[in-house]
This record gives sequence, structure tokens and C-alpha cells, in this order.
Amino acid sequence: MDLKDQIDKKNLPQHIAVIMDGNGRWAQKKGNQRIFGHKNGVKAVRDTVEGAAELGIKFLTLYAFSTENWNRPQQEVNALMSLLITTINSETDTLIKNNVRLLTIGNIDGLPKNVSAKLKGLINKTSKNTGLSLILALNYSARWEIVNAVKEIITENRQNPIDVGSINNEFFERYLNTKDIPDPDLLIRTSGEYRISNFLIWQMAYSELYFTEVLWPDFRRNDLYEAIIDYQKRERRFGKVSEQIKK
Ligand code: IPE
Ligand code: IPE
Ligand code: MG
Repeated sequence: MDLKDQIDKKNLPQHIAVIMDGNGRWAQKKGNQRIFGHKNGVKAVRDTVEGAAELGIKFLTLYAFSTENWNRPQQEVNALMSLLITTINSETDTLIKNNVRLLTIGNIDGLPKNVSAKLKGLINKTSKNTGLSLILALNYSARWEIVNAVKEIITENRQNPIDVGSINNEFFERYLNTKDIPDPDLLIRTSGEYRISNFLIWQMAYSELYFTEVLWPDFRRNDLYEAIIDYQKRERRFGKVSEQIKK
């Protein structure tokens, strides 16, 4: 039986988040520059997005550039920014054709102007699409997002002091970049690294974590299917006991 047929369509994760890792090592293993790995990572993005859209996944978040990634050699940072532009250019038609809605999280205004302008253009062009919501995490880090939320809360409520009793999870979430996006059900990290690297810390409080040795440029929809099948074997208890879940 095909991997795809083993997936229970009634128990799909609504939101899958991916830490796309291992591009550099993939390239170096082949005796190439790290950027060669990033370029090949685009193929994995394309196949994963198509696979997710075809399955009927509602939200897919891809961690593409962290606030910490600015600390890489300038040449690599520049190459990643150019790759973003060329990828947006080459993928626009396919995203529109496949009814994908593009969103971003992270400090988009902190990206080079030409990159942020391109992104905003594509977000506008796809805003009416009703299929998969593809969320690119760019210039993103969870701690930045949380600190930013606190700043916004204070700025917005300067005139009228907030009733402390009204602050709860729902209140706080309205100030996160992910407002209106459900928490990820499943987090996938490639390349055999077992860490979160400042990704969606608040939102992943109850995500199921899945790690694979596959390096990102080799990742294809079958790897996505494997992760989903693994996810579907798990029991999400949210603090309860098994008997309560099975009722
Ligand atoms: C992930 O691959 C892509 C980005 C962080 C932009 P890496 O570039 O981190 O590849 P490795 O982890 O060095 O192999
Ligand atoms: C995490 O990958 C960020 C992205 C995938 C964009 P890194 O490769 O930068 O993570 P660390 O720093 O090794 O944890
Ligand atoms: Mg890495």
C-alpha cells in the first residue's frame, strides 16, 4: 500500500510546522558550497507544499530564516536573500494555481526592502485563496515574537490601563504573529538535530514532535506522509488520562 493511502484523512494535523534543516551539510557532503544546498532546498519546499495542499492540510509553516541566521557569513546571508526573491518569482504562478494563500510570521520589515516588498506583493495576490495557508517564518524567532507582543500590548493600551484580571492566553495570543492561526499539531525537524532553535515556543506547547535524519534538500512528500502516519499513531492527552480520551 502506498504511504499516502495509509493516512487517515479524518485525523489529519490541521497545522504542520517544519524546521527545514540540513541544507549546508547536504551540499558539503557533495563537495559543494552551502548555498548549493539552499538552492536544492527549494525543491523540497515545492514538493512538501504540493503534498500538503493535495492532502488537504490547512496550515503549513516553514522556518526559512531565523533572527539568529543574520549571524552567518555575510555571503551566505546575501545568497539566502537573493534565493528568496528568485523563489518568489518562480513559484508565484504555481501558488496561485494551487489556491495557496501565503502568509508570513517574523519581522518582515527587518528584511531587505526588495525582499519585503516582493513578499507583501505575493501575500496580496494570494489573500483570497482558500486552500492551504503557507506561512513562511522569516526573520523570525519566538523570543522576538513574545517580546514584540509585550511591546504592542503596552503601546496599544497606553491610554487605558489594562485590567490585569482580563489577561489570559487568548488575550496574549492576539498579539502574536500567529493570531488567527491554530497551534501546530505536528512539528517536523529534519537533519537529525533535536532542538527547537527559537521556533514557535508559545504555540508548540502541545505539538507532537517528529525528528528525521533526512537532510532538508532530500525531503519529499513521502517523508511528509511518514511524519503524518507517525503522528496519527500518537495519543494526544492534553493532561488527561488515556481512558478519558478513548471515551
Ligand atoms: C537550514 O539549513 C536552512 C537555513 C537555516 C536557512 P542549514 O543552512 O542550517 O544547514 P546545516 O544545518 O548547516 O546543514
Ligand atoms: C533553524 O535552523 C532555523 C531555520 C531552519 C531557518 P538553524 O540551522 O539555523 O538552527 P541551529 O542554529 O543550528 O539550531
Ligand atoms: Mg542548520
